[in-house]
Amino acid sequence: MRTVHEAALDPLRSGSGARGGGGRAEAVRFAATHTLPVLVRGFVSGGARGQGTHPCAAPARPRWSAAALRALRERHGSAPVQVRGPAGTALLLLDPQDLRRFHTEPSGEPRGARRWIHDEVLAAEAPVHPSCGPFLAAVAAEAPLLTAAGSLELTRARHTVARIGRRIVLGDAAAGDEELTSLLGQLRGGRARNARTVRTLHDKAVARIRQYAAQAAPHTLVGRAARHGDPVGPAQDWLAAMDAVPATLLRTLLLLGAHPAEQDAAAAEAGGGACDARAELPRLRACVRESLRLFPVVPDLVRVTRTETEWQGERHPPGTTLLAPAAFHQRDPEHVPAAHVFVPGRWKAPASDHDMRMAPFGHGAGRCPGSRLGLLLTSALCAEVLRGHRVESARPVLNPTGPLPMTLDPQGIRLLLGHR
Ligand code: HEM
Repeated sequence: MRTVHEAALDPLRSGSGARGGGGRAEAVRFAATHTLPVLVRGFVSGGARGQGTHPCAAPARPRWSAAALRALRERHGSAPVQVRGPAGTALLLLDPQDLRRFHTEPSGEPRGARRWIHDEVLAAEAPVHPSCGPFLAAVAAEAPLLTAAGSLELTRARHTVARIGRRIVLGDAAAGDEELTSLLGQLRGGRARNARTVRTLHDKAVARIRQYAAQAAPHTLVGRAARHGDPVGPAQDWLAAMDAVPATLLRTLLLLGAHPAEQDAAAAEAGGGACDARAELPRLRACVRESLRLFPVVPDLVRVTRTETEWQGERHPPGTTLLAPAAFHQRDPEHVPAAHVFVPGRWKAPASDHDMRMAPFGHGAGRCPGSRLGLLLTSALCAEVLRGHRVESARPVLNPTGPLPMTLDPQGIRLLLGHR
């Protein structure tokens, strides 16, 4: 597993302000591998994310070590720091006080062109998705795959979630269409060799999605999208977004494996059978959110300003890229109690929803429109595993009293499941 080192942040010059003489901003060179996120390029070039991309498609490791960011903050008294990389410059927000503006001010442009379709179809504002019943039925039908081998790792989790994702997005007929997932993966990963191959792959994927959409049940995401126009583009986004679920599922179960009392309480909650009860799962949801606080799938959030903005006394022109290192703020021991320990109870307080330091799904207008669906699916999958099984041992071994590691590569997680 590749870890992030302090050396990744390599100050070029100190004391020279971003707008000349300010004395607080500091240009910082990224290590060659630490380019600005894919997202920035998406926003800057198109004003929206590219087709079939979800922020979780970008590397899931924080770009800078927490120690390096803390050192910057100490040096600059919390003022934003301008960082420069091969893909451009960005203003790094290190003061938790600045996060509210980052998330809520309309001067930032988080919304992609398809945002309103996402909001409608994913029922972003509804406490429970209107298709919760059939979605949980798809989870229940596929979940036995997770436990069938008595052990669980990323390949199996991905395979199962991809089947569920295709059922939810395109309908049951698509459950086994691994070729479609592979086509979309090749397109997203840029693995296709030339423009002609890309066109062929793209046409094939689009034709396949159209075919499913034509016969999809009304509760599916493409079924719900039909009245808003062509569902092909958004369907690619939704299928890509499902990739956030397997890693989150594994990390949550790994954490529960290291906390037996919490695991037993979660299993007891999972015992409930009715759809409504299964949709709620407050305890398991808190565990999933805590796992995302500790190990967010999107460690850095990005906005590009549309108007001139002022941050702690310094003005920045429209078009400035703002970067909120969410992974750093969520585990910042100066502002978050027990920052490096698994404490799911912290999510019980209703105010936790609006705590700007915690942004595993973002906040405000740019918040993930699939956050509720993502939580529904991940907690339901945890429940399916825990209903009949217990995480008996796991790799890597975590210290239950912490401090937990800063990153947790899902590829290295292996859970051994025993019968309950
Ligand atoms: C554990 C699950 C998930 C996590 C942690 C997650 C996290 C995120 C984050 C952090 C963002 C960016 C927010 C920002 O910039 O402030 C985002 C955006 C987005 N997410 Fe998710 N997500 C998850 C699941 C899903 C699911 C299941 C869907 C849909 C099926 C989805 C659809 C989207 C879309 C469409 C966007 C882009 C919205 C836009 O362009 O404005 N996400 N997600």
